[in-house]
Amino acid sequence: MSETNNIFSEFDRMLGRDAKESQLKQKGHVFWLYGLSGSGKSTIADAVERSLVAQGHYVKLLDGDNVRTGLNKDLGFTDADRAENIRRIAEVAHLFLDAGFVVITSFISPLKEYRDLAESIIGKDDFSKVYVNASFSTCSERDVKGLYAKAKEGGVSNFTGKDSAFEAPTDSDEDWILDTEKQSVAESTEDLVNKILPIIKKT
Ligand code: ADX
Repeated sequence: MSETNNIFSEFDRMLGRDAKESQLKQKGHVFWLYGLSGSGKSTIADAVERSLVAQGHYVKLLDGDNVRTGLNKDLGFTDADRAENIRRIAEVAHLFLDAGFVVITSFISPLKEYRDLAESIIGKDDFSKVYVNASFSTCSERDVKGLYAKAKEGGVSNFTGKDSAFEAPTDSDEDWILDTEKQSVAESTEDLVNKILPIIKKT
């Protein structure tokens, strides 16, 4: 499908990330939030972005529902489409990283293989995964968008956690975990900001 034979990438000649990070006085990094719909990813991502920007950082937030109305509006929720969704988002995150930005992403990213794909595109050293943990029953009680009720009546195909799998991390993944069943939004946000700050500090 793709024709890459006649493509000559210029990555070696281009001004490097270091120069941009020096100007922005930060280290770029991608923080990949994942978890069920309604787990609190977007709310926390938004609050973390505001806090980091207020502290003088340059941040790009990429969020599921927004990206799916633009760049990825041709994609649905089959396994193949979800994989392509994550692949494109990881490529975009990588572009922002190259510009020295701190990137926060907020996508269900339901399978470990999708998260691994994102890590392979972005690079292990520049990538941290954050599992936003709330159970299916908690998310369906919250049901901020009314999607859980709709899915229960059969109105949403491939709904994550119902007809489409969600793989929580195992201990060996060593992902950061925010437990939104036990923590308030303010607590999760503070927790995450405190983890992020040392990583993006320019030495
Ligand atoms: S992902 O699985 O490909 O990572 P993504 O985070 O982009 O998903 O999109 C999830 C958002 O799409 C949800 O928050 C919800 O608002 C909406 N959505 C619509 N249909 C579904 C579905 N079948 N399963 C999950 N989310 C859905």
